Amino acid sequence: MHVILLGPPGVGKGTQGVLLAEGRVWERLVTGDLLRQARAEGTLLGQEAQRFMDAGELVPDNVVIGMVREKLTAKPAGARVVFDGFPRTSAQASGLSLMLGELGMKIDQVVVLEAEDEPLVQRIAGRRSCPRCGAAYNVFLAPPAEEGVCNIDGFALQHRRDDQPETVQHRLDVYRDQTAPVIDYYEASGARVHHVDGDQSVEGVQAAVVAALGVG
Ligand code: AP5
Repeated sequence: MHVILLGPPGVGKGTQGVLLAEGRVWERLVTGDLLRQARAEGTLLGQEAQRFMDAGELVPDNVVIGMVREKLTAKPAGARVVFDGFPRTSAQASGLSLMLGELGMKIDQVVVLEAEDEPLVQRIAGRRSCPRCGAAYNVFLAPPAEEGVCNIDGFALQHRRDDQPETVQHRLDVYRDQTAPVIDYYEASGARVHHVDGDQSVEGVQAAVVAALGVG
């Protein structure tokens, strides 16, 4: 079974993707993380993506589709994938259908996490992460024991460049304009599309996602 987690910036796709994959034989494919990794490694792809990401714009479809194709074909046959942050445009959704079709697979279920802008802006403003181990914190909601320092390895926590307030508002607008139509694409495709309230506790969202997908 392949699942897509869709929803605006900060709604909890990453948080729920980790919880969903934990203890299950599912692999996550997270385009935001792949692009940030390419940037950190200074690859051509990463350099190309950087200016779009910093401005809160989407990286061009051909770049992202090529990157996903490479990752997807490298996965073992029969792998179950949770897509997080992809597809983000109708062109990416068609590209994914083509790729999966070639491999004899399809998207079975889509979870759309929903919330108003206000709590999302606060969540993103507070988000910090460890550049070394990837541990995630939130200065308002889940702060580290010592301000600015990772509980696990003591590294200085980072604030994502695209998490500045003015960029966050633009990312929310981009989501509404370019990504929300992907929901219609899947509703028309026959996939099971579940709408889940993302403005509740992490555990509440997790329970709703698991129940919607029927994966107990
Ligand atoms: P990406 O990294 O995908 O960012 P995003 O979609 O904007 O999503 P976020 O990572 O901000 O939020 P999330 O929904 O994962 O929430 P999280 O769980 O972290 O993309 C970044 C950029 O890369 C894009 O702008 C674009 O430039 C480029 N890009 C990526 N994919 C692309 C594609 N396919 N095509 C083109 N360009 C692409 O949670 C957020 C915070 O809230 C955390 O602090 C968390 O602890 C907290 N939190 C989570 N759930 C809850 C809850 N229930 N209650 C309280 N707090 C919560």
